[in-house]
Amino acid sequence: MKTQRLLLNGLGNVGRRFLELLRDRGTLLRDAYGIDFRLVGAVDSRGALYDPAGLDPARLVAWKLEGRSVAELPGGEAGQAATCLLKHGEADLVLEAAPTNFWNGQPGLDVALKALAAGLPVVMASKGPLVLAFEELAALSDWRDPRKPALRFSGAVGGALPSVNLGRRDLAGAKILKLEGVLNLCCPLILADLERGLSMDEAITRAQALGLLETDPSLDIDGHDAAAKLVILAQAVLNQPARMADVCREGIRGVTPERMAEVRARGRRLVMLARAEREGEAFRLSVGPTELELDHPLARLEGDAAGIVYDTDIQGRQACFTYGQGPMGTAAAMLRDALEIAQKG
Ligand SMILES: NC(=O)c1ccc[n+]([C@@H]2O[C@H](COP(=O)([O-])OP(=O)(O)OC[C@H]3O[C@@H](n4cnc5c(N)ncnc54)[C@H](OP(=O)(O)O)[C@@H]3O)[C@@H](O)[C@H]2O)c1
Repeated sequence: MKTQRLLLNGLGNVGRRFLELLRDRGTLLRDAYGIDFRLVGAVDSRGALYDPAGLDPARLVAWKLEGRSVAELPGGEAGQAATCLLKHGEADLVLEAAPTNFWNGQPGLDVALKALAAGLPVVMASKGPLVLAFEELAALSDWRDPRKPALRFSGAVGGALPSVNLGRRDLAGAKILKLEGVLNLCCPLILADLERGLSMDEAITRAQALGLLETDPSLDIDGHDAAAKLVILAQAVLNQPARMADVCREGIRGVTPERMAEVRARGRRLVMLARAEREGEAFRLSVGPTELELDHPLARLEGDAAGIVYDTDIQGRQACFTYGQGPMGTAAAMLRDALEIAQKG
């Protein structure tokens, strides 16, 4: 049995689901994989709790559901950040699930950089650090040198959708000709509402009521979220350096129910598509409402679904989809990354 001591930064929708997985799957993970995950550190916006003997995930889930901070528990330290906990040097793996931003990548960027520099593997759910500093993170990790600590982020691009793993691992040896993805879960719901005749304002209000839009809806509706995911895929899978500014981006604000109906009448479907198309050796990156033939795999997605399609030279077309997963899908992706790292190390 191998024990893996975990430090979890961020205990919100995703982090709490990860705690639930630790609470509910300990026996399965020990029996099936020979891995005993022991949570030794947990951090939220107000402070941190650290105990090398192990924290109780069930207790932390209940505590966070009450809206409390781990800093309020016995042994908790108010204002303590994950970067300070790394000084203890007593974790084997750092999991990053704090809020993301595309301006400075914090707080996740410092946590990831410091952990990797200290030789600790990192699993990330947050996109900001990967969008802004992929090369720096890659250089400190096994992305550039197998002797360096592992960096995994399979949940950052579509939650449980294995978009990164499929492209990077399973398409090994093939040349990717084109990548197409529905990578933002909110846009398909809004477009489906427009198709049913709702106005854009009504569709946005409904998505907000379902809790599916970011606090700033512009991140979803104007395509920033999909563009960020495309930037990560470009760097991680297509090996092309990319920034947000490299993505030709159009949002769905201007789409009307009339346009949806007109496209449908022509036997096609309007989809919020992220696309990387070859132009010589480089890929042209774009995000925006795009008409697809009805037999295209991504034209058939309904509801809060996401999907990705790779066209390749020797593996043909490879596609995968995910339906209705929410934050548990992202937590599950963090678990698969943690297992991969634990089994390797
Ligand atoms: N939600 C999804 O389905 C999904 C899917 C893919 C990727 N992601 C990414 O996963 C990350 C987490 O998302 P989420 O939905 O769980 O967010 P969330 O519900 O807003 O939770 C964020 C958590 O981070 C904590 N936090 C805030 N500032 C912090 C800081 N400076 N240091 C440490 N912790 C801090 C918060 O503390 P408090 O508890 O004290 O508020 C909270 O526990 C984001 O980067 C998001 O982009 C989410």
